[in-house]
Amino acid sequence: MQRVLSGIQPTGNLHLGNYLGAIRNWVAMQQDMPCLFMIADLHAITVQQDPAALIHATREITAALIACGVDPARSIIFAQSSVRGHAELAWILNCHTPLGWLNRMTQFKEKSGKNKESAMLGLYSYPVLQTADILIYQATHVPVGEDQKQHIELSRDIAGAFNRAYSHEFFTLPEPIIQKQSARIMSLRDGTKKMSKSDESDYSRINLTDDADTIAKKIKKAKSDVFENMRDDLENRPEAHNLMQIYAALSNLKLEHVISQFGSGNFSTFKAALAEVAVTHLSPITARMNALMANRDAIDAVLKDGAARANAIAEPTLAQVKKMVGFWRE
Ligand code: TYM
Repeated sequence: MQRVLSGIQPTGNLHLGNYLGAIRNWVAMQQDMPCLFMIADLHAITVQQDPAALIHATREITAALIACGVDPARSIIFAQSSVRGHAELAWILNCHTPLGWLNRMTQFKEKSGKNKESAMLGLYSYPVLQTADILIYQATHVPVGEDQKQHIELSRDIAGAFNRAYSHEFFTLPEPIIQKQSARIMSLRDGTKKMSKSDESDYSRINLTDDADTIAKKIKKAKSDVFENMRDDLENRPEAHNLMQIYAALSNLKLEHVISQFGSGNFSTFKAALAEVAVTHLSPITARMNALMANRDAIDAVLKDGAARANAIAEPTLAQVKKMVGFWRE
């Protein structure tokens, strides 16, 4: 049986990288497979969060997913913390994950920075919780951006280790599904850094909550380049490459096509065209999101329904795992 699971952290604004790298693909995949989309609030608290902001972001992301086209009648949208099995399975998997595997995780190295000693244990074991998120639903497909690839590969390793430990091919090994064209959308200020919720400069990203003027202003101020030799030297032109890639992804064109269309013009003409495409694409999403956010009860009803449906899938898997491990039950 095929099943999709993916997640997103409620740690601030959703941005164009989340949309083009992941959410847009989620919307497409729900046509073909049963899907679960999770607001990863357990993951969010691996760094300190303001409780009021966290719950607001959980609702806002729920609204954003629906506004982008995730259909809550078809797909399951839920908050990770409302399915207890995630934390319970994560503990069991912690006991099957060698430290050496976690030491290789680049995201922990980036996020903990120079302060490894004061980083939280939860931040370190974060990829094991992510593995539990996937395995508890026996998900076959995990659509993510490029930055999550290493975590999904670890999930496959942990699933394999568990299966070997109990001599039973119990857990499905999940496949990462990564889009070619927009797997890694970069910052508007620095084409070598990924666009991120945690970048301190709001000018580095386009948020799904930005209005048309803000989007246009951010694109205008984005780090520029010249177009000369664009075709031959794309790899050394990270900012130009990124903006062209965004244009291509938003207008469903091949990068080559965008280079031929704009390559001989000047950068400001291209930026104006990009702003127009971005506003045309994102404005309806922002409007739908704002309308949904005005009805908190409706958002909460989606999360409540999602929690019940997700629990119904997670419980039998967890019960079987506990039996395999040898835990007592009535
Ligand atoms: P998060 O919240 O950082 O990002 C959500 C999704 O957006 C993608 N993404 C990007 N794609 C392209 N370019 C970018 N600049 C960019 N920034 C973010 C991410 O790859 C991701 O797909 N650990 C996960 C959440 C999670 C999860 C899971 C994912 C928790 N459990 C289980 C899959 C399966 C995270 O922090 O994503």
